[in-house]
Amino acid sequence: MKIGIDQISFHTTQYFVDMAELAQARNEDPNKYLIGIGQKKMAVIPSTQDSVTLAANAAAKILTPTNRQQIDTVIFASESGIDQSKSGAVYLQSLLALPQQVRAFEVKQACYSATAALQLACGYIALHPDKKVLITASDIARYGIGNAGEPTQGGGAIAMIISKDPKILALEAESTVLTENIMDFWRPNYATEAKVDGHYSGHMYVDFFDEVFAAYRQKTGMTLANFAALAFHLPYTKMGLKALRSVLPQADAGTQQRLMANFEDSRQYNQIVGNLYTGSLYLSLLSLLENTNTLQPGDRLGLFSYGSGAVSEFYTGILQANFKAALLPKLHQAMFAARQQVTVSTYEQLFQQQLPTDGSTVELDLSQDPAQFVLTGIDAHQRQYRKQY
Ligand code: HMG
Repeated sequence: MKIGIDQISFHTTQYFVDMAELAQARNEDPNKYLIGIGQKKMAVIPSTQDSVTLAANAAAKILTPTNRQQIDTVIFASESGIDQSKSGAVYLQSLLALPQQVRAFEVKQACYSATAALQLACGYIALHPDKKVLITASDIARYGIGNAGEPTQGGGAIAMIISKDPKILALEAESTVLTENIMDFWRPNYATEAKVDGHYSGHMYVDFFDEVFAAYRQKTGMTLANFAALAFHLPYTKMGLKALRSVLPQADAGTQQRLMANFEDSRQYNQIVGNLYTGSLYLSLLSLLENTNTLQPGDRLGLFSYGSGAVSEFYTGILQANFKAALLPKLHQAMFAARQQVTVSTYEQLFQQQLPTDGSTVELDLSQDPAQFVLTGIDAHQRQYRKQY
């Protein structure tokens, strides 16, 4: 039985900051951000959006009257969770008006957790072939104003429906995983911004990729020539390029050219959004599939998932017969086109508008947020959400 990604969608906010402008404001050469980091625009997240609303806005794009009845599991993957106890998935069930007969829960392991959710969902569907699983991968990447991590911020959410006979990508059974307890990036409970050992994290990312890819080659006998494209977790797009370049010498010239060309398609969306942690690999997959003119049904894709701390996995999937028809490029491109550029100083103000952490009540100004699902405030320690249309 084929099992995998049946549908996939993306949502981000209405604001972005231009990376050349941000570089100028930080007295950096714009090419450091544009080429050295590989980012053009960075999503800016207003306080009326959190990991729950971003996920709901993404998921609403792929829910239909039919699949609503088949989804019996909702998995919320995030490292920007809004509560230590209650899962974001329970809020999603209610905001999206999904049937109450679902199991809803949250998973966490830095940027890796959506891949954990995907693998678990595939195993679950193998036992329950008539069911579907909704996965959301939703995060807001925050390092702080003026520090080295700043140009690698961003935010948004991916939603995916996992089922048998998937319309987009059927996963193959073999994968290789690696876990090692390292301190490259983490966020203590008291912190709203990540702690990071930036250069070390980049080295570990490439080391983990080299190790899981070598293990995959050894396990399966496959080489780079077996892949039409590789998609990477992209905290910033230069990171994936570094990992790809670390293995390209293993390939013949034609394979190198193909993988490089497909990498360019796979980073287009990430270059104009930034990091969305759990969703970044899947935004890259979406970018590849919606921008490619060369990939064909039957092609094999390799996917590298990395979550600091650290857990990584290399796995593969086969493109399905009508994968192009199942995608939503017009919807995503219209969302990108409607975004509004903000100045660096407006971005800084929006970044600093954090919700109170002392339990006080707050009512947010919703007049600027065009999203379907918004956070309206906090009352009696409870987040208040609204569906605007
Ligand atoms: P930095 O130290 O300011 O930058 O921070 P740099 O000096 O290393 O320069 C960056 C690149 O720009 C270098 O290229 C420079 O040569 C180049 P590289 O050597 O890397 O190929 N450069 C230029 N290029 C063209 N023209 C110029 C120019 N000037 C310089 N004029 C750093 C960079 C990424 C360290 C920082 O932004 C950071 O700490 N980011 C956050 C950490 C991160 O994203 N790590 C990625 C791996 S860990 C991961 O992926 C997991 C994560 O998503 C979290 C999770 O799992 O939850 C982060």
